[in-house]
Amino acid sequence: MCGIIGYIGERKAQEVLLRGLTRLEYRGYDSAGVAVIDGDRINMLKRQGKLRILINELSTKPIAGTVGVGHTRWATHGVPNDINAHPHLDCTGKIAVVHNGIIENYLELKKNLIREGHKFVSETDTEIIPHLVEKFYKGNLEKAVTSALKLLKGSYAIAVIHKDEPDKVVGARCDSPLIVGVGKGENFLASDVPAVLDYTKEVIYLENHEVITITKKGVSVKDLSGRAINKKPCPISWDISQAEKCGHQHFMLKEISEQGDVLKKILEERLLKGKVSFEELKIKENDFKRFKKIAIVACGTAYHAGMTGKYMLEEYVKIPCWVDTSSEFRYRDPMVDRDTLTIIVSQSGETADSLAALREAKKRGAKTLGICNVLGSSIARESDGVIYTHAGPEIAVASTKAYTAQLAIFYLLTIYLAALRKSVPAPKVRALVREFKKVPDLMNDLIFEYRSDYNIIAAYAQEFKRYYFEKHNKSYFLYLARNINYPNAMEGALKLKEISYISAEGYPAGEMKHGPIALIDENPWVVCIAVKSKTYDKMLSNIQEIKARGGIIIAIVTEGDREILHNNINYVIEIPKINELFSPLLVVIPLQLLAYYVAREFGYDIDQPRNLAKSVTVE
Ligand code: F6R
Repeated sequence: MCGIIGYIGERKAQEVLLRGLTRLEYRGYDSAGVAVIDGDRINMLKRQGKLRILINELSTKPIAGTVGVGHTRWATHGVPNDINAHPHLDCTGKIAVVHNGIIENYLELKKNLIREGHKFVSETDTEIIPHLVEKFYKGNLEKAVTSALKLLKGSYAIAVIHKDEPDKVVGARCDSPLIVGVGKGENFLASDVPAVLDYTKEVIYLENHEVITITKKGVSVKDLSGRAINKKPCPISWDISQAEKCGHQHFMLKEISEQGDVLKKILEERLLKGKVSFEELKIKENDFKRFKKIAIVACGTAYHAGMTGKYMLEEYVKIPCWVDTSSEFRYRDPMVDRDTLTIIVSQSGETADSLAALREAKKRGAKTLGICNVLGSSIARESDGVIYTHAGPEIAVASTKAYTAQLAIFYLLTIYLAALRKSVPAPKVRALVREFKKVPDLMNDLIFEYRSDYNIIAAYAQEFKRYYFEKHNKSYFLYLARNINYPNAMEGALKLKEISYISAEGYPAGEMKHGPIALIDENPWVVCIAVKSKTYDKMLSNIQEIKARGGIIIAIVTEGDREILHNNINYVIEIPKINELFSPLLVVIPLQLLAYYVAREFGYDIDQPRNLAKSVTVE
């Protein structure tokens, strides 16, 4: 939800800001802007629409200056237009602010500021910040920002510049991410690490209520009472190529393609001599032995990974387990206590509802375990223990490699807990490990097959588009599965609706006859996950029920399955043979690719689908 960046150094600020915003555009893309201290004034340009509109305009009339701030927006308060785009200025035009988050008490503050004579131009909550800084400014920007922050309720990551103090950028955070990129003779503020990776691999992660001032030569961090805080930069192991498309048409396709290698790396790092190692995990073995139940809390795709985790944990660790969406968990009266391991799954580690759910669980005495991708993110830092997915930066808004990496961590956690709690015999645990190790290569083969220029999934997508128009846009998708692949049905549907805007629902196949079957006529395309499993025969019956009512079926089946071919299925996609337990890791690949190819057929902006943003840092 919005990306912010600040720069001070010797380079042209405009270039650094735009490059950084390009890397942050996944966070929001309805408008963008930059403000740079240019001689004795602040020079600002903001434009509604994708970042490229701003980039094009700035290429014809560039802004000079080496100190500035930039923003890419996902609108909360006020429609996306040039005026509501950030940066926002105070009445004098000397102060410019970019902001990510929501100021909940902005109306009250705005009323007071208007009464005091301040003039507002936008509909945003953010605009109160430059006016508050203006009000408190007495020649010291850092102090004025600190005074303003004390009045704010809500979440923020901000970067502020003042024309009269061209030697600094001031930033601060509360429940929205902000990092400092520490360079040589230059420093950066940014919402996320990829924004600074072109220039430095040293970053400082800021905590809530910290105020940071960067100059060319240094970085100073203080708390809201002005006390200095000593922070050490951490090295980043990510490579900038991980945040680039590297010849792929879209980040989504690149990230889908990376999944076999990501999985391989996870297993190499985590499976040492057949034993699972979570070296960064701070929760003690004894704690893992004593938990009586597990709550898994997450949003969206991460929630689907958690749903899959429940199947494996209950079957192999024999521990009651439930899964909640974070936004429901946090406002219920969730039954978590000190005997509950609460697992928060989040790629970004910044999702506002998941963070709030984590805090709620902690308040109730539960031990919390974060499964996160982004190093040093809020959920990673605030959880009692964290396991990183190490999937590398995920740029496409639709999550793919983070999902399979989350699944991988759930498999490893299951194996770890099953061994520790002796819930299944040791030879069975060893057999699981052996089977798991087969998956990365199988996944790579599968991706290779269905990524080629002429592959059947792309052909099915083409066929769907033709059918869709033939049926006057009435076609849509249903995804059906049972057991451990049921969450994949939800995930396949989510992927499709996110990037192709076609209606899609995932159901447990056994629920069909309790309602959804009423939808079946010749319009829906029904993706049936019918790989060999203990519920295979039941899936065949569901397929028959759909065929009998005219539905078009795409079946995802185990390779070599001849029986399925007698079912009059329209389209078949094969996945390699694997133990049912691990099949979700393979089944999801064609689901991701189907969504991708359908969206490509319709010509949509795959990496930046409408209305979405990668990291949902507002409630
Ligand atoms: C779907 C997607 C979202 C996220 C959800 C949670 O493709 O990306 O549904 O999974 O917003 O985000 P994180 O995992 O960052 O908490």
